[in-house]
Amino acid sequence: MKLFIDSGHLPDIAALVPLGIIDGVTTNPSLLAKEDANPSDLLKQICDTVQGPVSAEVVATDSEGMIREGRELARIDDHIVVKVPFGKAGVTACRALTAEDIRVNVTLIFSPTQALLAAKVGAAYVSPFVGRLDDIATSGLDVVGQIVEIYDNYEFLTEVLVASVRGPMHLVEAARLGADICTCPPAVIEAAFEHPLTDIGLERFLKDWEQARAARA
Ligand code: E4P
Repeated sequence: MKLFIDSGHLPDIAALVPLGIIDGVTTNPSLLAKEDANPSDLLKQICDTVQGPVSAEVVATDSEGMIREGRELARIDDHIVVKVPFGKAGVTACRALTAEDIRVNVTLIFSPTQALLAAKVGAAYVSPFVGRLDDIATSGLDVVGQIVEIYDNYEFLTEVLVASVRGPMHLVEAARLGADICTCPPAVIEAAFEHPLTDIGLERFLKDWEQARAARA
């Protein structure tokens, strides 16, 4: 499974990429709005840093505007994946941009029917939002499981990119369900490293080693 960073914060991205565990980045207008930088320049820096797919979202709400913005975003760097919100305008824009060999991530996916329609217009990725579904007492991971099953049934090439991840268990369950990608905020990736028994185990190894050396001295 591929692991993406869900962030527009370059220092966090630059800190994680050298570990070799990161395959790409997802951003959205809310994430980029938090950063004190020109969005295009920042997206270019993120692309240079990660050297993998970087989702950049349009803010137009009509299909013509989405297509125009999508083309502009795609010109920033070859790694840019244009993110369009699901809906009739988004589906129309996805079809048009895909026909121009621009990869599209259809976002704000909350149901398997939406994911099916996005796949039919050649979306490279769909982003089901698990956390936001959980927030309204609906299992986001159940939706992911249904999308994975539907795509497997028909061998759709669209990749399932699990988004709106709130904790490490979303990452675990996304992997168990066979999702192609999970995009995680940096804090969730940090949490995925942690286990108290690892810390206790290391402390004990080092203590035993030092005690044995001291006894021999
Ligand atoms: C990423 O592609 C999504 O925009 C993001 O994961 C949404 O996360 P949120 O629900 O925590 O805002």
